[in-house]
Amino acid sequence: MDAGALNERWRRNLESWAIPDEILAAAPADPWAHVPARFAGRTDRAVAEPEGPTLARVAEALPEGGAVLDVGSGPGGASLPLHDRIGDLVAVDSSAAMLKELMIRAEGLGVAATAVEGAWPDVEGEVPRADVVIAAHVVYNVPDLAPFFVALNAHARCRVVLELPNRHPMSWMSPLWEHFHGIRRPVRPIAEDAVALAAALGYDVRVEEREAPIERFTHIEDLAESVCRRVCLDPARSEEVASTAMELGMWPVPRDRWVTLWWDTRE
Ligand SMILES: C[S@@+](CC[C@H](N)C(=O)[O-])C[C@H]1O[C@@H](n2cnc3c(N)ncnc32)[C@H](O)[C@@H]1O
Repeated sequence: MDAGALNERWRRNLESWAIPDEILAAAPADPWAHVPARFAGRTDRAVAEPEGPTLARVAEALPEGGAVLDVGSGPGGASLPLHDRIGDLVAVDSSAAMLKELMIRAEGLGVAATAVEGAWPDVEGEVPRADVVIAAHVVYNVPDLAPFFVALNAHARCRVVLELPNRHPMSWMSPLWEHFHGIRRPVRPIAEDAVALAAALGYDVRVEEREAPIERFTHIEDLAESVCRRVCLDPARSEEVASTAMELGMWPVPRDRWVTLWWDTRE
């Protein structure tokens, strides 16, 4: 398949994750929202304990004091752990709340950072090129992935590095969707589909997979709270959600598998 067909397949597969209108209309909270506090905590942990192939691939391509562009930055979990190596950071995110968390942390760590609020690649014209471009845990939010990749590539002097779970980040909840709504959730897209698209675009993409360094939840109450929101259930049902997750053998939740993809760019 060529890049156009793979992009179309990615888009269709991602669309198949849409929540049926009648369930969405009755949802007590936005099931798709990212919670800044959750990603802020994850960022603080990553800054305190920097590790993993994504950081290693960024670090090996980044000149001392080089420029990093972090797309879908959140509070900076994929870039700020390299704070002592970064000369200049541009963070792009469609969420002002996430960028606020990033700017607080960048200032505390002494990183010169600029925040650009908006969706990538819509805002690419406002963003300068960087030595290394990162996009971590973003692609399952991006229906039109080919232009997203092309704009990342065009902004990287040396390397593009992506991190993503090997399966859609909501996949682990599929048995609960079936239990509470009688709905079977899709399987695709998966990380291999993103790899195939990057390769079809002509990038010499390399891949490394590993177990996620963090648990998804440390307490079952956190799982129940998250599931109520994501599965469109009243928070008053959280005890029922917790006991159902236990009965279905879903607790403790196995760690995700995270995939790092990277390619070097030609000047
Ligand atoms: C799951 S969080 C990941 C944050 C961070 N990169 C990390 O790994 O911890 C995804 C972030 O991407 C942002 N986002 C999603 N789609 C985007 C897009 N097309 N352009 C810019 N930001 C986007 C969301 O607002 C959110 O902050």
